[in-house]
Amino acid sequence: MSVTKIQSIGVLGAGQMGLGIAQVTAKAGFPTTLVKATPGDTDALKKRVEGAYGRDVDKGRMEAADRDAALGRLNVTTSLDQLAGVDLVIESILEDLGTKREAFDRLDAICGDGAIFSSNTSTLGITEMAVATKRPQRFLGVHFFNPAPAMKLVEIATTLMTDPAATQAVSEAISALGKTPVLVKDSTGFVVNRLLVPYMIDAMHEWSRGTASIDDIDTAMCNGAAHPMGPFTLADYIGLDVVFHMATNLYEEYGEPRFAPPPVLRRLMLTGQLGRKTKRGFYDYGAKPAVVNEALTR
Ligand code: CAA
Repeated sequence: MSVTKIQSIGVLGAGQMGLGIAQVTAKAGFPTTLVKATPGDTDALKKRVEGAYGRDVDKGRMEAADRDAALGRLNVTTSLDQLAGVDLVIESILEDLGTKREAFDRLDAICGDGAIFSSNTSTLGITEMAVATKRPQRFLGVHFFNPAPAMKLVEIATTLMTDPAATQAVSEAISALGKTPVLVKDSTGFVVNRLLVPYMIDAMHEWSRGTASIDDIDTAMCNGAAHPMGPFTLADYIGLDVVFHMATNLYEEYGEPRFAPPPVLRRLMLTGQLGRKTKRGFYDYGAKPAVVNEALTR
């Protein structure tokens, strides 16, 4: 089965990442079908994309006519069957291998033989998913960063079975989104998370060692290394459950202590303090501006 140019895109999973990815693909001109994997309000999701495009128009980054055209290219549904005609599927559902494999199994029966499948997983194995499908040669990792509309990088992860023509077609589509593709061999965490997760973990160790306070470590990295966010703000932004699971997956895969989740991360996660999304993590977002979580100052 030859791989052709990607002309339409399906995104499975309408969480923060899936929604952001669909926003980007529809804006870039690809007819996009966004499938909400769990029951819920698809109109509300479309309204959120409309709101994001509206901000682009307000900032002069998009013409009103282009906004309307982009919205016209975006179909939001809960029906997996509507992915039947797409050239590329980008899966962005729960970070659980079994759940993802089950979704790809269903998609194998729905999508055309030439369609390319990809996963936006952060730290699960692309090979483990690819071998469970009928199209391992047309299966890749396509890893966007959060927030997807703002972050330029997309890691494209290939396995031992990936057809170079599929890699080429996906790289071209990613470039057409205005993103920068970087090719990486399938390996837990790819490039960015293998470097970024130990960095956030190291910051937690420095804090628990008493080197400096949480906000001073963040201030140091913003002003001393020109990072847009310090490591604690970033961890809260990503979500401490996500950081915990990434660290756990990396530790299980490589067995290196630098990936082991520190106790403070485990305790915040166990107590439901997951960062921005729960309004409390390393910082308390109930206050404006956010202040360090009082429980971590005692
Ligand atoms: N959606 C869309 N666009 C967004 C956005 C969002 N949620 N948040 C910010 N932006 C855009 C803004 O529109 C703005 O664009 P313009 O300058 O062109 O107008 C730009 O990003 C900057 O935004 P702001 O001025 O509002 O805010 P900021 O300067 O504080 O930037 C930020 C916000 C882009 C999030 C910046 O702080 C940043 O880059 N932080 C680091 C984020 C990061 O490292 N992400 C990777 C996380 S790791 C990951 O994702 C991997 C994984 O597997 C979990």
